[in-house]
Amino acid sequence: MRHTPTIFVIFGVTGHLSRTKILPALIELKKNDHLPDQYHIIGVAHTDHTNDSFKGLLQDNISAIDADFLEHVSYVKGGFEEVETYTALAHAIDEVEKSFGQCTNKLFHLSVSPRFYGPLLENIAVSGVGKACETPDNWARILIEKPFGNDLQSARELDARLGTLFDEDHIFRIDHYLGKETIQNLIAFRFSNALFTPAWNDEHIEKMEFELHESVDASDRGTFYDAIGALRDVGQNHLLQMFALMTMGRPEDFSAHHIREKRADILDSFSFDTNKEIIRGQYTNYLTTKGVQPDSQTETFFQAHGKSTDPDWQNTAFIFSAGKAMDQKITRITVTFREPNICLCDREHGDTQNNQIIFDIAPEEKITVRFFAKKHGLSSAIIPKDLTFSYHDQETQARDNSAYEKIIYDAILGDHTLFTSTREVMAAWSSITDLCTSWDDQSLKIYPQGASHNQIIK
Ligand code: BG6
Repeated sequence: MRHTPTIFVIFGVTGHLSRTKILPALIELKKNDHLPDQYHIIGVAHTDHTNDSFKGLLQDNISAIDADFLEHVSYVKGGFEEVETYTALAHAIDEVEKSFGQCTNKLFHLSVSPRFYGPLLENIAVSGVGKACETPDNWARILIEKPFGNDLQSARELDARLGTLFDEDHIFRIDHYLGKETIQNLIAFRFSNALFTPAWNDEHIEKMEFELHESVDASDRGTFYDAIGALRDVGQNHLLQMFALMTMGRPEDFSAHHIREKRADILDSFSFDTNKEIIRGQYTNYLTTKGVQPDSQTETFFQAHGKSTDPDWQNTAFIFSAGKAMDQKITRITVTFREPNICLCDREHGDTQNNQIIFDIAPEEKITVRFFAKKHGLSSAIIPKDLTFSYHDQETQARDNSAYEKIIYDAILGDHTLFTSTREVMAAWSSITDLCTSWDDQSLKIYPQGASHNQIIK
């Protein structure tokens, strides 16, 4: 890729996310010639490493890494709150720029616990390492992982601080779900198929269910997870973004600005319905996880209903659920249409005639349209049938990590479409904070590891 030389600075480089997603994505981008020809990665973390021992760590943990890629990697040891770390980082950046013979673009990726965001951003700005080169079109950008804040108040404070340090144009707030092929497809599907457009409202859609169920537990990162729980971990961001994409109005055009505004509008109209049943669960043995408080009340599962004041969606039910240590990994959106007023189905025997569109995001990526047809034979029985399109049948099947590739690639290009705006983040926090307040004293439902969704909610 012909592009100005670029340095990627990854804060928290020895952490789980960096090893499993960020670095593998950079390796894949390089392989496909989607990184600038001249690039370098500087990892920053507090763990004691030399350049060589850091490279050894990467070799041991990332199977796709090769010697060529390792040539472009170096390490700065330091605490995120310590000024000396940024002096060392400035020095490391300087060395790389000298070797390239020019000032470079810089992408700072914050893959650290959110409690470090404030001091880290302040230090990047104050130390001067976050300054772009004087030459036109050069940039220094900040990529921030979620959760952006811990509630509405802390998100506002963080945003205000960020706004004084960096231009909004240079800030990229990550929700990696937006980078997933099948999530991007939600907009493509909705706005390219006139077949469904007239029915995409509460007159025709009875409910939408958003599920993010995982079989993995929280043992890989107990400390992080225990501080936030399922709702903040995947509800505030991934589930609400799926909701936004499924319900937002048609944007004037498909520019980043208009898409983000439409997502924010629908999120503004959203709140959780605290009059409906809310379930907070925790799997057995969670309390023995490393890093988890022995008396932790953190939820590892939740289910809640939502509602919207948008004129198109006031009468549709929205149901959200997410959990760890469940029987299987399923990320799915199920859209259930209302039944025809007079149905041909056999009501007496409990048959229903609800069309459905099911968007499977994981593990398989597919779309299923459930329709009804007459069963062959003498009776007039109506039976459900599925039309399915699976990306797994296609050459275009997305790789596991492609969301991070897309995110990093778009950040290099400066395209904000798949990043959340301040308005979206605040709107999401507003509804999440209200839900947290309302469920504060609700007791946890303990479920066995490996439980199914139905088992947990029954
Ligand atoms: C992350 C959460 O944002 O999303 C994790 O922090 C969760 O807890 C993950 O496992 C799920 O993402 P994916 O892409 O594996 O569905």
